[in-house]
Amino acid sequence: MCGIFAYKGDKKNAPELVVNGLKKLEYRGYDSWGVAYRTGNEIKVYKEIGKIGEFDIKAGNEKIDFSANCNLAMGHSRWATHGGVTKENAHPHYSEDKEIAIVHNGIIENYAELKKDLIEKGYKFRSETDTEVIAYLIEDHKDLGFTESVKKAISMLQGRYAIVVMNAHNDALIAARRGSPIIIGKGKNEYFIASDIPAFLEYTREVIYLDDNQMIIIEDEVRFVDLETNKEVKKRIVKIDLDAQSAEKGEFPHFMIKEITEQKETIARAINQDPAKIMEIAAAIKSAYGTYLVGCGTAGKVCLAASYHFAKIAKRHVNFAFGSEFPSLQDFITDKSLVVAVSQSGETADTLDAIEVAKKKGAKVLSIINVEGSSMDRISDYKIYIKAGPEKAVASTKATTAQMAILTLLAYACAGKLDEGKRLLVETASRINDMLNPRYEAHIQKLAQQIKDWESIYVIGKGQNYPMALEAAIKLQEVSYIHAEGFAGGELKHGPIALISKGTPCIVLVANDETKQDILSNAMEIKSRGGYIIGIAPENNDVFDYWIKVPESGNASPIVNIIPVQILAYQLAILRENNPDMPRNLAKSVTVK
Ligand code: F6R
Repeated sequence: MCGIFAYKGDKKNAPELVVNGLKKLEYRGYDSWGVAYRTGNEIKVYKEIGKIGEFDIKAGNEKIDFSANCNLAMGHSRWATHGGVTKENAHPHYSEDKEIAIVHNGIIENYAELKKDLIEKGYKFRSETDTEVIAYLIEDHKDLGFTESVKKAISMLQGRYAIVVMNAHNDALIAARRGSPIIIGKGKNEYFIASDIPAFLEYTREVIYLDDNQMIIIEDEVRFVDLETNKEVKKRIVKIDLDAQSAEKGEFPHFMIKEITEQKETIARAINQDPAKIMEIAAAIKSAYGTYLVGCGTAGKVCLAASYHFAKIAKRHVNFAFGSEFPSLQDFITDKSLVVAVSQSGETADTLDAIEVAKKKGAKVLSIINVEGSSMDRISDYKIYIKAGPEKAVASTKATTAQMAILTLLAYACAGKLDEGKRLLVETASRINDMLNPRYEAHIQKLAQQIKDWESIYVIGKGQNYPMALEAAIKLQEVSYIHAEGFAGGELKHGPIALISKGTPCIVLVANDETKQDILSNAMEIKSRGGYIIGIAPENNDVFDYWIKVPESGNASPIVNIIPVQILAYQLAILRENNPDMPRNLAKSVTVK
């Protein structure tokens, strides 16, 4: 949520380099963007609403002078929290005297009080943002010098932040974090500061992860400071092996379809884990006095599906809560509990908040994450990397199925049947490989053509596939903008069936198990009221008006059943001329509560 990128080094085209880096972070927020750089003793700030790198000249906006000889710049892509999508609210923000500029990701919870105090002192604000308050606080303490004034301002903030600050008087660049990511890329005589690694991957693989309450000060020398003790700290340089290519679209028109297609490999990669480690974690689940699965959005639906797996496969009751709801359940948490946090980014604020709550109670935390080095990675007792590679499209696809695969494997491990689980998932991965081909996509595209103008789509599932019905609805909502809702098949007759009219598209997720007859009966109930039944199932059935075949896959059916819906959502987005990679109002990494 909001992308930050800054550069200081030998290269003389810093503003251009920053704009290009921001484009790689666009998935984190894309309603407006801006860049600041220093020329002489002046900071220039450019801001725009809309696509990164495009200037609205007609609106009288100036273009960034890319020919400026400049080796220090910073930029921001925004997902609005405080204040609407306007040029004034876009970052970077100046201090009132324009001698400080700042970019920020996060939310300052006490900004209103701080702003009130500053207004009383006579400061006049230009934007509605919480960020501008930080710039003004720094200005208010400028007598302390640049570094100390930034420290002082930070000490007054409550909430989460990742900030980068520059000043008009020298070439210093300062970044600090609490709760939102900051990753430093170290090149030869140059430093990159970013919210995520892809921003600088083409320049360096050497990274330094800034921890919470730490600051980096880049002047002639580079220093790291622990803000709690005010002492300098040494940081480790980590070599990462992400290749720049995997963070690009390549021959695909969009990241979303690239990432859907990558599921040919990602499921097999996810389950390729050290068996001893999986057994150790299974033992921790079994010995915990209460295990809680926690995640948000799609990751939350994966958790809910996993709770069915643990019940069915491992005969264990495992609780589930959305990250944002977990604090309300905290009275049940003890130092014997285990919290399993599921997250692609490892940075979702609501999930991090749940972890914080659990840790305060002494509970142990297992994170199942994609992004190594992320906040969850750094604060968890156990971690499993899902190894899906960078997921750039806002709508999660390959991370979803990789998370499902790991949790299925863990359920089997808890049942003492790790090898059986692995065999099932390896076979499923290979069947998905066969399933994902242009003919299959064309079959789903034909359906998309038929239903693209409907106002609503409903999805039903039962058992392990009920959470997948909820996930299917999220996928359809976020990229097609068609109203979509998921239900437990048996629940329809208790109310929602009133929504069905002639032709209403209803997707039915079917597994070849004990739930099959019931869900087919539910489909029949919808059909009898005029609904158009789209069956996603291993076998065809008379009740289906349109059948999308999926491979028979036993307890892995939630994984195979969600993939055709991902493709359908993508096709609907294209037909409705939406950008599937950057749906409106959303951002990839939700680092605000
Ligand atoms: C929807 C989607 C979101 C995320 C949610 C949690 O397609 O991707 O619902 O699942 O924001 O994000 P992570 O997994 O990064 O914690």
